[in-house]
Amino acid sequence: MVIYHLSTECYPVAKVGGLADVVGALPKYQNKIKGVEAKVVMPWYNKSFIYDHEFDIVFDGFIHQGPNMLQVQVMKEKTNVLGFELYMVKIPGLLDRDNPYGYQDESFQFLAFQQGILHWLCAMELKPDILHCHDYHTGLVPFMTEHCPEFNFLKGVKTIGTIHNGEYQGMMSWDMANYMPSFDAYKWGLLDWNGLINPLAGMIKCSHAFTTVSEGYLEELFISFHGLESLVRQEFGKAYGIINGIDMEVWNPETDPMLDFNFNSQNAVEEKKKNKEKLCKEYGLKPELPLFAFIGRFATEKGADLLPDVVWKSIKQSYGTLNIMILGSGNTYIENKLKEYDYTYTNFALDLGYKEYLSHKIYASADFLLMPSRVEPCGLNQMYSMRYGTVPVVRYTGGLKDTVEDISTGGAGLNFTYPGTDDIVHAMNRALELYNHKDIMEKLIHANMKFDFAWEKSAEKYIALYSN
Ligand code: ADP
Ligand code: GLC
Repeated sequence: MVIYHLSTECYPVAKVGGLADVVGALPKYQNKIKGVEAKVVMPWYNKSFIYDHEFDIVFDGFIHQGPNMLQVQVMKEKTNVLGFELYMVKIPGLLDRDNPYGYQDESFQFLAFQQGILHWLCAMELKPDILHCHDYHTGLVPFMTEHCPEFNFLKGVKTIGTIHNGEYQGMMSWDMANYMPSFDAYKWGLLDWNGLINPLAGMIKCSHAFTTVSEGYLEELFISFHGLESLVRQEFGKAYGIINGIDMEVWNPETDPMLDFNFNSQNAVEEKKKNKEKLCKEYGLKPELPLFAFIGRFATEKGADLLPDVVWKSIKQSYGTLNIMILGSGNTYIENKLKEYDYTYTNFALDLGYKEYLSHKIYASADFLLMPSRVEPCGLNQMYSMRYGTVPVVRYTGGLKDTVEDISTGGAGLNFTYPGTDDIVHAMNRALELYNHKDIMEKLIHANMKFDFAWEKSAEKYIALYSN
């Protein structure tokens, strides 16, 4: 079975968030299953990976976007160093950029990526068995393979769409149809949602099956999906919730080269303490106090807008008996407010930016990881923190409710229901109580480190779905 994962991110080549981690790991684990050949196709970005590795040009051609003709090359990484064949689509001017997102012309960018992939696949002798599209950036593929005559060779190839984040749907005006490859005009309704071309809606309508990255999130989409609720209910028969795993090889506290002190479940208590002492020293925090951490994008879906209030309120209420450390970036209002508190409170440390190595150090050092998400399709941070012996304090939503059970019902984390400052601070107070019971804390550290979030089970589930 030959599977192509189509994605705008893939760890370690280009990462903005969890999508990269999933696409960098899932194919590797699928390839361990007999008879499966999983590959990844992503854009050719201007990232260090392309300079540090060697590539073969496996395709050279052109695509048309309206009046514009664009050169397309597909580059294959020579050694399969990531555990799968990696193909990168090079389109000068549109894909060879520094970052995956944040450009005004993203409709053209992602359209070109999808056209480039399909042109290349049409030039092959053998058809793939499965095209696995990740998020709206590749959401037009299921439509184009079926309804664009140009890609007739791929008609009938099975397509799966995975919704990692339904907050982003890639809507564009119908003017963009002039730049798409020609399609059967009477099929326009398959692309339309509320008078716009909606690639995520198109993916749900046209894929042979679609998945969400947890069962909890799928249930929530029926109720809240930025206008697509009725669509997801309508298409329920081909919807599946498959929880993400984590790459246990990359995220292994015993071998992780980014940690100052490696550890396993036997020596976690002492070694975590050493990691914490070093980190606290570096950031001017107090190692004898409990350390709460947040790592992530400063977006409302992550509840990041609540963080400034959480910082001052929890520090005030606890009379300064806790530390908080935040790593992330995004919304400038949140960044500025947090910067202000970084000057005001000695119990608070902020590092603005994206720092992979620091995230690992924080997972290893913190006592508690805060995730006040309003929306969390799966969430990987809570799983990384548990693997590194850190207790997750999470809002009960989406993938968080599928992976973190509250200590009151026998779990090893803390849940709260409402994404508001008071509820978060209340959950932090519960955490502080736990912290003072060293024996319970130690049990939680061990219990969390033993959780099996390995990819194997979910990789099998995807293969079973493809086989169906
Ligand atoms: P999302 O994809 O919605 O951002 P996930 O929980 O699925 O959320 O994944 C986030 C990933 O990005 C994790 O690997 C997390 O460690 C990483 N991450 C987020 N922000 C940062 C940051 N500022 N520095 C380093 N890593 C980060
Ligand atoms: C998205 C979601 C996140 C999920 C990740 C990987 O970015 O926001 O919850 O873990 O995709 O599937």
